[in-house]
Amino acid sequence: MIIAIDGPSGAGKSTVAKAVAKHLGFSCLDTGAMYRCIALAALEAGVELSDEQRCASIAREKAISFGHVEGDPVPKRVFIDGVEVTDDIRTARIDRSVSIVSAHPLVREALVEQQRRLGHQGDFVIEGRDIGTVVFPKAEVKVFLTASNEERARRRVLQNEQRGVGSVDFDEVLADIVRRDELDSSRETAPLIAAEDAVRMDSTGRTIEDVIDDICTRARAAR
Ligand code: C5P
Repeated sequence: MIIAIDGPSGAGKSTVAKAVAKHLGFSCLDTGAMYRCIALAALEAGVELSDEQRCASIAREKAISFGHVEGDPVPKRVFIDGVEVTDDIRTARIDRSVSIVSAHPLVREALVEQQRRLGHQGDFVIEGRDIGTVVFPKAEVKVFLTASNEERARRRVLQNEQRGVGSVDFDEVLADIVRRDELDSSRETAPLIAAEDAVRMDSTGRTIEDVIDDICTRARAAR
């Protein structure tokens, strides 16, 4: 079974996806982390982010993998070719760069193939922007999770504070979120858009626990 959770940055997708996976005993895949890895690897290799061919070569050649923190069943650590990049992919520099790289059709092609291969290995909660529309259009449960811009920025600042990585300036984070959503929604390939059959959930003014319960109930009913 695939549970697809799509939506804009900071809507709570990661927290919700990981908790739903834990509750249901599913695996969990953060596809945003994969695009972040390609942005990081491109920057480190001195590749122009606008260079689709070279970014796509990186997407084909670099091995992205996920790992567990001890005692936690949900993978939260990220590796490129075996080197841990969990924090390096969450910096403000990557926030500014990732949407340029993710707009390249060839980069998407390479990553979508990997996402499908992984997703076919079992029950998965997969979060991203195009999971319900492109990667797994037949997902059994599709959720499009949103929240107001201010709520999303507030949550992202809190998350960055807790992680000790990324910007903690509210205005800067808000501006990044709005800019990134604009880029992600207006790109030609696999734009950020709700699938027609997705359940729209606005998490503004709703507790995360309530959203998690709602998705788990829908998943159990779809079994
Ligand atoms: O989810 P997160 O904010 O970490 O995603 C980072 C970026 O990766 C997004 O802003 C978007 O440009 C890209 N992305 C995407 N398709 C996905 C997941 C993420 O284009 N399925």
